[in-house]
Amino acid sequence: MRWLVTFLVAFVAMTFAACNIRGFFISQTDDPVWNGPTEEQQAGGEEQSLGAKLFNKNCASCHQTTGKGIAGSIPPLAGSALANSEDVSKPIRIVLHGFRGAIIRNGVKYNGVMQPWHSVFNDEEIAAILTYVRTSWGNTGGEVKPEDVARVRESTKNRTTQYTEAELEQPL
Ligand code: HEC
Repeated sequence: MRWLVTFLVAFVAMTFAACNIRGFFISQTDDPVWNGPTEEQQAGGEEQSLGAKLFNKNCASCHQTTGKGIAGSIPPLAGSALANSEDVSKPIRIVLHGFRGAIIRNGVKYNGVMQPWHSVFNDEEIAAILTYVRTSWGNTGGEVKPEDVARVRESTKNRTTQYTEAELEQPL
């Protein structure tokens, strides 16, 4: 009889030892928790400039993050003569007051309407967006300064319609 008790005690002890009985009593509070990337990280990281951020949020739905536009409906900004114009008032006038009418880009016809942005963005924001456009996708137009936008905003403040290509030919 005694050998049976000894055997049972030994058996139970060994069974407990074999199981990870500790894990049964200790709650695992230090399990790693997966934190997904933030919205900002997903959009390309925190290093994105103001211009890149605003472009991607407000312009890329039409002109695409690649700046290539959509053939036949949205003209490209990559390689755009107006966007890169030496006369910075041209792209500034387009963004402030919008753009409309028939145009031909790379042999493709467009006849759309772009809304004005003068009451959406301040001078710094428009300068940042246009600087981003003029220094991305191989563009070489270069920087647009907030003072440039302020000057064009002031001298076109009475305008109420979108620019056409012919009107942009006129210097301010
Ligand atoms: C809802 C669509 C839409 C959005 C959003 C939009 N655009 Fe446009 N954009 C157009 C269309 C359409 C044209 C061409 C209008 C036409 O056919 O005459 C255009 C033309 C332009 C042009 C002239 C390009 C060229 O070579 O003729 C520039 C520069 C431009 N947009 C910049 C911007 C910027 C900067 C933003 C963001 C602040 C923006 N657009 C947002 C639709 C859009």
